[in-house]
Amino acid sequence: MNPMRTLQVDLGARSYPIYIGPGLLEAEGLLARHIPGRQVLVVTNETVAPLYLERLQAALGGFESDTVILPDGERHKNLEVLGRIFDTLLEHRHDRETTLVALGGGVVGDLTGFAAACYQRGVHYIQVPTTLLAQVDSSVGGKTGVNHPLGKNMIGAFHQPRCVLADTDTLRTLEDRQLCAGIAEVIKYGLIQDREFFEWLESNMDALLAREPEALAFAIERSCHDKAQVVAADERESGQRALLNLGHTFGHAIETGAGYGVWLHGEAVAAGMCMAARLSARQGWLAEAAVERIEALVRRARLPVGPPQELDPARMRASMAVDKKARDGRIRLVLLRGIGRAVLTDGFEEAELIAVLEGRDAALGTAG
Ligand code: NAD
Ligand code: GLY
Repeated sequence: MNPMRTLQVDLGARSYPIYIGPGLLEAEGLLARHIPGRQVLVVTNETVAPLYLERLQAALGGFESDTVILPDGERHKNLEVLGRIFDTLLEHRHDRETTLVALGGGVVGDLTGFAAACYQRGVHYIQVPTTLLAQVDSSVGGKTGVNHPLGKNMIGAFHQPRCVLADTDTLRTLEDRQLCAGIAEVIKYGLIQDREFFEWLESNMDALLAREPEALAFAIERSCHDKAQVVAADERESGQRALLNLGHTFGHAIETGAGYGVWLHGEAVAAGMCMAARLSARQGWLAEAAVERIEALVRRARLPVGPPQELDPARMRASMAVDKKARDGRIRLVLLRGIGRAVLTDGFEEAELIAVLEGRDAALGTAG
């Protein structure tokens, strides 16, 4: 039996497949069939390169292939490091038919996708995600970009890849803390639109933490399926896609406030989702029992349920205003009307938001 699962992101002429399974880096011809020209630039980082670059290069035997190895970490997801990708493309005279291949986690994927969106006004790229977070979320949907010191992911573009190749074997070398950060985004899908998946997670969290291949493959496939549906319905986030940002307005403020990389993105999102649940409960939209269920699942995934103790609530509130969902100076948040029922709204009380930021009824968090 072929253990590879294939999903499709339906976007008309820009549709593309997501391949999920073990051993895909070595799968004969799989990558090559999505590369239209002869030139390829592999973008990776100093941690992932020694682990997987050789295998990827073997799959690119017939192409003129160059490589750029970036420094590792969220703090390097910026315009300066983006410039290194352009330097390599120009030094090696890559033309408009070139294909960039992102080999790594969400940081490499977001940087590479943005470079592909900009270089010569847009070239092809492929996502080869190697973290759980990237396999369930960041590699799918075409959001690309970099951070600014004043705001997370504030500079970027929508640019869809030609395919996503998620080799689940690569997750074997991932640190436990990174695996848990990825589980945060998996829980997110259950919370926003897939109650059945949330319940599956309640029953299978131990299997995920133990990296049981069947459980991991199911969680990746279900997450990508849920995300692909939303992206197909609202590619450029004029409505429904904003729901995928559950926990992110709080989370981005945590990441920016704590310093990029101190809290992992998934950790900040986990705390943010619990804060969104708390605020929903304070508004009377979500039962206290549901908040407790959400926090229990997040805790089981070894993730924080509240913001860092040292983060000043007023500073966090100011940082939340720098958000792509804000309109006319008013922030909009993704909140919950139930497990599996997320809504985008500005109809919350400011005083209740402040109470949540001050952690008046929730535990404060510690990352890592
Ligand atoms: P990351 O890219 O920093 O990777 C986490 C760490 O794991 C890094 O140190 C990396 O080098 C290492 N690593 C990667 N693959 C490995 C492997 N197989 N074995 C061992 N180590 C490995 O972080 P991430 O969690 O993958 O991604 C977070 C980023 O993704 C954030 O910048 C976030 O904003 C972005 N993101 C983007 C989207 C989107 O739609 N574009 C969605 C969610 C998150
Ligand atoms: N991670 C949110 C989105 O892709 O829209």
